[in-house]
Amino acid sequence: MSTPSLQSFNTFGLVVEAEELVSIASTDDLKKLHDSQAWAQRQLHILGGGSNVLLTQNLSGLVLLNRIQGKKEVYRDEQVVHIEFGGGEIWHEAVTWAVAQGFGGLENMSLIPGTVGAAPIQNIGAYGVELKDRFVYLDAFDLDSGETRRFLKNECEFGYRDSIFKSWAKGRFFITQVCLELQLHPEVNLRYGDISGVLEQWGIAHPSIADVSRAVIHIRQSKLPDPAVLGNCGSFFKNPVIPETQFEELKARYPEAKSFPAGEGYIKVPAGWLIEHAGWKGHRAGAVGVHEKQALVLVNYGGAKGSEVLQLARDIQADILDRYGIALEMEVNAW
Ligand code: EPU
Repeated sequence: MSTPSLQSFNTFGLVVEAEELVSIASTDDLKKLHDSQAWAQRQLHILGGGSNVLLTQNLSGLVLLNRIQGKKEVYRDEQVVHIEFGGGEIWHEAVTWAVAQGFGGLENMSLIPGTVGAAPIQNIGAYGVELKDRFVYLDAFDLDSGETRRFLKNECEFGYRDSIFKSWAKGRFFITQVCLELQLHPEVNLRYGDISGVLEQWGIAHPSIADVSRAVIHIRQSKLPDPAVLGNCGSFFKNPVIPETQFEELKARYPEAKSFPAGEGYIKVPAGWLIEHAGWKGHRAGAVGVHEKQALVLVNYGGAKGSEVLQLARDIQADILDRYGIALEMEVNAW
């Protein structure tokens, strides 16, 4: 049991308090706690890296910090290796470790904030690769029953920044281990334009996974604010997916509108483009604002309240709906 302030446990840097904070280092810790008085009838909240939550109020009950460490090889053949990572491992450290071993597949997701255990919840992704592309299974502790359960890939119902852990299974499972499949003879993925552009600038014609990781880190650092310096939660909204017919109307009004294919008949429109185009980039309201280099990122300039961030988000959502007829959905979870 430790200090109840959550300021250093959420990357927005919001000042909120927990009634009680417990660091969990193993499944055994969870089992013991589950059987104890401290657990009984209490509200439970699970925090990983705190990089995808917007804390709008003090949290009553128990806040469980996922600090389960470990990396274990559980399978290997000629082509791939399966590594089981502890849910509390820092995601970027897991990526760096994999790159150092020469295991491919995670390098495009370098420098994403948060923990390994939180990664499947919103199916994190960047630069053309999503967690689901590398996922084998996860083990989770059922907070109700106290049983441990394995979820295979198809059971997680991964979608764009989505899984069952954002719907029926939300808040119910503590993710203790995540098993990922990595390549022993990596093929780099340069499909996302920015990466090949940077490598070309650096004069690297045959990039290794370490080169790709460095390029991704370079791109992210050039436009995404470092949460240690400026509180934020990365992309605040999801990129909306709209019917092709609606996109054609948008394109007729704004020929410069950006887009990505999103499956038969659908188009993904970068929310960052919509928000910037609506004039919000660099906008500041008191202690909160829209980042000046990436309009999809809301920031805390210091001393902001969660409710102020939420109000700014609602103002942006209302304006985008009004201007473009597009509803922006939050990627970040408001508590
Ligand atoms: N854009 C603008 N203005 C902006 C921001 C973006 O016009 O202020 C345009 C860019 O010029 C580009 C397009 O929007 O043409 C896409 O921008 P970017 O490559 O920066 O990616 P994004 O769609 O804004 C998504 C993910 C990021 C991920 C990047 C790279 C979501 C919600 N976000 O952002 O993930 O790093 O692609 O793959 O899907 C996160 O989830 O927290 C996150 C940072």
